[in-house]
Amino acid sequence: MRYSIQSSLLLAATLSPVVDAERVLGAYIFARHGDRTPKVFGNTQLTDLGYREVFDVGSFYNKRYISSESSKQIEGISADVVNPKQISASAPSDAVLQNSATGFLQGIYPPVGKAASQTLGNGTSVEAPLNGYQLIQLTAATTSKNAEDGIWLQGSSGCQKAMVSSNNYFKSDMYTALLSSTKSFYQSLSPMLDGAFSSADMTFKNAYTIFDYLNVGRIHNSTSQFPHKSDLTDEVYHQLIALAGSHEFNLAYDSSDEVRAIDGAVLAGEILAGLGETITTKGKSKLNVGFGSYGTFFSLFGLMQLPAASVDFTGIPDYASSMVFELVTNSSGTDFPADKSDISVRFMFHNGTITGSSEPTAYRLYDQKSELLSWDEFSSRTNEIAVGSDDEWCAKCGNTDGKCSSFASTSSNPGSADTSGTGGSGMSLAVAGVIGAMVTLAVILGLQTIFFLLGGFRITKRTKASAESLSTDIEVEKEA
Ligand SMILES: *[C@@H]1O[C@H](CO)[C@@H](O)[C@H](O)[C@H]1NC(C)=O
Ligand SMILES: *[C@@H]1O[C@H](CO)[C@@H](O)[C@H](O)[C@H]1NC(C)=O
Ligand SMILES: *[C@@H]1O[C@H](CO)[C@@H](O)[C@H](O)[C@H]1NC(C)=O
Ligand SMILES: *[C@@H]1O[C@H](CO)[C@@H](O)[C@H](O)[C@H]1NC(C)=O
Repeated sequence: MRYSIQSSLLLAATLSPVVDAERVLGAYIFARHGDRTPKVFGNTQLTDLGYREVFDVGSFYNKRYISSESSKQIEGISADVVNPKQISASAPSDAVLQNSATGFLQGIYPPVGKAASQTLGNGTSVEAPLNGYQLIQLTAATTSKNAEDGIWLQGSSGCQKAMVSSNNYFKSDMYTALLSSTKSFYQSLSPMLDGAFSSADMTFKNAYTIFDYLNVGRIHNSTSQFPHKSDLTDEVYHQLIALAGSHEFNLAYDSSDEVRAIDGAVLAGEILAGLGETITTKGKSKLNVGFGSYGTFFSLFGLMQLPAASVDFTGIPDYASSMVFELVTNSSGTDFPADKSDISVRFMFHNGTITGSSEPTAYRLYDQKSELLSWDEFSSRTNEIAVGSDDEWCAKCGNTDGKCSSFASTSSNPGSADTSGTGGSGMSLAVAGVIGAMVTLAVILGLQTIFFLLGGFRITKRTKASAESLSTDIEVEKEA
């Protein structure tokens, strides 16, 4: 009796139509490369550990979006054998990023054995190599160039105004204060840094490269390869990562100077285009995968006001971190929703490799109240921050050579003249600036709090006596 009740309940559950289950229509995944060799020596390469990490993350997204057993399977996506029309993947032409993307895609669509075989005209069946390995085209992202093989964050972006803007950070009070207050801290690392950095380079100016070098050593070197490894205590490590995060976030994003976040703006344009394509093709294209560096993450985090959702977004995302923009609907039926207003976007982020039962967490975009934004809201907000074409990029960056030369020659025509200069996206900037300034203030305060908590620093307020400046600035001192 008991059994039959249970089995009829089970039967009812199986037969009842999926009424209130959310349907996933598409997704844009953007991930950071895996573990790699240090930047300071150049010729940076993905390691086996890094390969493993991106493969694991790809496998997670296979289980979430591709597998037919998942309740979040993207509707209509091919479950085992890749359908090239449904997926697009890109990475800047950089060894670490391209190989990371390849490793990730191996996890997204793993080998399928004989399922990936074709029959020739003479009746012979040919199976793909490596147990049915699946090839997915990886295009070289030409617009977002932020590569791993460079030391300076903006060095490879090529955007002139962004480079000028980032350089302005080195003139800021915040930077100069940290440069002097952390001087003795960085000098004290010399036993660990000797040989890789000159004494003059052991300063906050190289906060990221120093952190990176020691972080790689911490992971890969035995104590015989890294004799002063024990100097890298947890406390020193946390101080290094917090300082590096502050340094790099500020190079990648400035609320009062949007062009600094050019790589995030380009990525925003790609996200908009990718998800938009899913909507305009009514689901023929379904999944977009992109790879990039932490600098691109930072720029986008800033532009999308994620630090307002969590101050953690001003810290360097760990290797193989991923973010995803899910296109979802609650409209009933199995057709692609006819009405765009039935479609929403959810943003999620996972810090580092995804293993075990962990999952990405949803965060609010643009300091909105809800973790879900309607497609219209999402696309209009993202349009405000996005750079979607070479034309726009050239105007915003002020570049006139290379790919911009054709736009530069037409810049005297009135139609394109108003897009030149820093105010590329027009009147929304003023509003964005105010919101952004508040976000930045919160970010700076948040970072300083972390910094002081971790490092045992204290703030002393000092009023400048000099006549040319009446401002009060913040001095950071290391407590003994
Ligand atoms: C069928 O064609 C393939 C490719 O040309 C060739 O390698 C194979 O030997 C052929 N098989 C037979 C049975 O002729
Ligand atoms: C780690 O080992 C490599 C290879 O021996 C060496 O070049 C590097 O300087 C070491 N890193 C540290 C932090 O000592
Ligand atoms: C990711 O983790 C690192 C520490 O490993 C932290 O500094 C950073 O703030 C975290 N980022 C996010 C968005 O959680
Ligand atoms: C669909 O409905 C569920 C349950 O009410 C809700 O949690 C989810 O956010 C909704 N999703 C969308 C896209 O509206």
